[in-house]
Formats: sequence, C-alpha cells, structure tokens
Amino acid sequence: MTSPLAFRGGPRAVTHPPPHANRTAFTPADRAAILAYLESREPNSYYGRDGILAEYEDHLASFLSRRYCILTNSGTNALHSAFFAAGIEPGDEVIAPTYTFHATVTPLFQLGAVPVLADAEPDTGNLDVADVRRKLTDRTRAIVVTHQYGHPADLPTLREVASSHGLMLIEDVSLAMGAILDGVRAGSVGDIACFSLGSTKLLSGGQGGALVMDDPVLHERATLVGHFSGRSFQTVQSPLLRQFASTGLGLNYRMHPLAVAVSMSRFLRMEELVAARAERFERLSELLAATGVIDPPATRPGVSRGSWQGYCARVRPEAGIAIDPLVDALRMEGLEVSARGYHLPLHYHRLFQTREDGLRRQGPYAPNRRTYRPGDFPMAEAHVDTLIGFPLFLDEPMELVEAYGYACQKVASRLGEVCAPSGGTV
Ligand SMILES: Cc1ncc(COP(=O)(O)O)c(C=O)c1O
Repeated sequence: MTSPLAFRGGPRAVTHPPPHANRTAFTPADRAAILAYLESREPNSYYGRDGILAEYEDHLASFLSRRYCILTNSGTNALHSAFFAAGIEPGDEVIAPTYTFHATVTPLFQLGAVPVLADAEPDTGNLDVADVRRKLTDRTRAIVVTHQYGHPADLPTLREVASSHGLMLIEDVSLAMGAILDGVRAGSVGDIACFSLGSTKLLSGGQGGALVMDDPVLHERATLVGHFSGRSFQTVQSPLLRQFASTGLGLNYRMHPLAVAVSMSRFLRMEELVAARAERFERLSELLAATGVIDPPATRPGVSRGSWQGYCARVRPEAGIAIDPLVDALRMEGLEVSARGYHLPLHYHRLFQTREDGLRRQGPYAPNRRTYRPGDFPMAEAHVDTLIGFPLFLDEPMELVEAYGYACQKVASRLGEVCAPSGGTV
C-alpha cells in the first residue's frame, strides 16, 4: 500500500531541494575553454571567419555532413538568416507547425511573410504532413519544420513534398541536435537547417545559434544579412552580392567568441552529454510505463532522440483524466512539472490572432498575415492537452530521476482521489 497522497497530508514523494534540473550543467571543461580563449594570443573570431569560430563551424558542418556552417548570436537569428537566404519576400507563404517554439516562425514577420500554420501528428506533436499538403497554395515558398523534443519529423515525406512543389525546406533542429531517423541525422536533409546554441540547449554557450547548408548561393545570402567586411569578403564571391561585402546588408548576427568557446567545448563532449540525458530519460520512461496511465513520449521505430531537448510524458486520453488536477497532485508531491508541456501552440498566442499590431503607421507589420483561434488545430490541441512537461535532467543523480518516476506511480495508483467522482479537482 502506498502512503497517502501529499495533497491529503501524506509525505511528499520528492524531497530534493529545488531547482531539480541543472539544465545546462556547465563543467570545469567549459570554464577551461573560456580561459583558454582569453589567454590565447588569438583574440580573433570577431569579424572574420577564423580562430575558434571557424574551427567550430567546421566541426558542426562535418557533424551534419553539410558544406557550410554559419554561427550566429541566436537560434532566432539563424532562422531569420535562413528565411532571408531562402528568398522569402513580403506576401510569401511559409508553412510552419503550430506546435513549436515561437522563434521557429516569428522571424518571418520581419520579412513581411505570411506564416501558414499547420496541425500536429497526434503521437509525436511534430508537423502533420497531410495538413501541410492541404495548406499548399501558389504563394507557398517554403516549409519550416521543428523536431519536437528530439523526435525527428517525417523528413523523407517533407523533402518529397518540398521538392515536388519547388519549395525550400528549412529545419529547426534546436531541440534535436544529434537526433537520427533511419540512419539520417536531423539537420542534414533541409535546404537549410538552423539551431539554437543558447539558453538551456545541450550545446549552450549562453546565447548562440547556427545554420548549415550545401548551396553556395544560400550560404552567401545568409552570410551577408548578418556579417560585414572580414567574413563577407572571405566568403561572398558572386559579383552581385560581393559589392555589398564591406557593409553587409544591415544586421550583426556574429556569435560572441566566449559563447563559441563554451558551446564548442560541449560539442566536443556531446556523446557524453547525450548519453547522460538518454540514461536519465530512458529510466524515467521505464518507470512511467509501469503507471499504465502516464505514458513516456512516443518514439517511433528507427528514431534516436539525440539531445532530447524536452521530455513531455502523455496522459492516456482513454483514462479520462483531466491534466490539471493530475499535475497539481504531482506538484504537491514535490515534482517540478507543468501541465500542457512547456508552451502552448502558436495559434494560442496573440501575435497569431490579430492583425492589429499597431506597429507601423501604414498598417500591420506583416499586412497579409493570417489570424487563428483556439479550435483551429484539433490534433495539436488534443496532443498538448495530454502533456506533462518534466525537468531537463542532465547531470542530476539517478535517485532524483527515479523519485519522479515513483511519484508518478504513487499518484497513478490513487487516481480516484485525484479526480473526485463528482468531477471535482484537488
Ligand atoms: C525550437 C526552437 N527554435 C528556435 C529557438 C530560438 O533560439 P534562441 O533562443 O537561441 O534564439 C528555440 C529556443 O528555445 C527553440 O526552442
């Protein structure tokens, strides 16, 4: 017999002091990398493609089997560079998942382009290709796709749809560095692949990002939007674009060299970091599977999740349990979990619901943008309604991870108390 639930006065299942996730888990090796850069006699990597910046770009390009890599100062700016390079113009439509972090899509507004949101697969939460096909119009120029929480999207089919309609395919690999689908790495398929190297990402340098590609024209355009002089003179060769190399095209997207040092140090230990995360999340999955109610994230055959950037368990819809009281009960047990994952789909956010942004005298910022409402994407909404977001364990003791699993088992074994027969909640 398990002890009473915490919300009924029983002992909390997890008593570790907060916060429970040391999400980036920087180590002495990261500190050493910063010091090595500071003490090197090579204070470059500011304007040119040289020093540790060039070294790291070469590593990333080769890891993803791509010809070019450009480091940027954020994942958001990597995506802006990619959309710019892809030639997205005002009024162009870009099909994008509604279930993604907003920065996968928001740089499109800066180009006056029209994000056309599409629904999600019910199990993985990734972009639903059937809905992508329904959203194609003669104004569609590109598809952008995220690999949610490390699970690669259906890249073979998306590649086929993009190629057969003459569209650019842009991958947002921010949550899936190192992920593999049937032997193919996420980030190696799209015309351009972008990723964040900032905040809580596995390869975080504090802030940073990158984009990779094979096409020299895309590379030149993506360089010129955020880099002037040194780097642009080194890499922009086509006569049309080279005439602007001294100034670039207006933005500064250069990554801070200290961030490069830390991010590269983590890249060089990536196997170890991925293994640490996989070990913890696989153990958690084992324990959740025994609850019979809270399923681990769905992982399809042939998939390896790489950085596992996010762990959202799913409450079985047929169990008929409301997510809020369940998550409340888990929180009372001491777990740092959140209902509906880490964020809502984009169509719940105001930016995607109104044209009246008041940002310009001549009208809305992206004049043709579409507006959405809750209810527009039933599969994404149903998926998100089942999600419980867990901490991003990385170097935490296995004992803590197991305490989370056992706490879920405890609450699952007393579900009748969590959701009172009257439908009342805790
Ligand atoms: C899927 C996804 N895309 C893009 C970004 C933006 O990256 P950054 O924060 O480095 O600008 C993030 C950041 O969390 C993300 O999760």
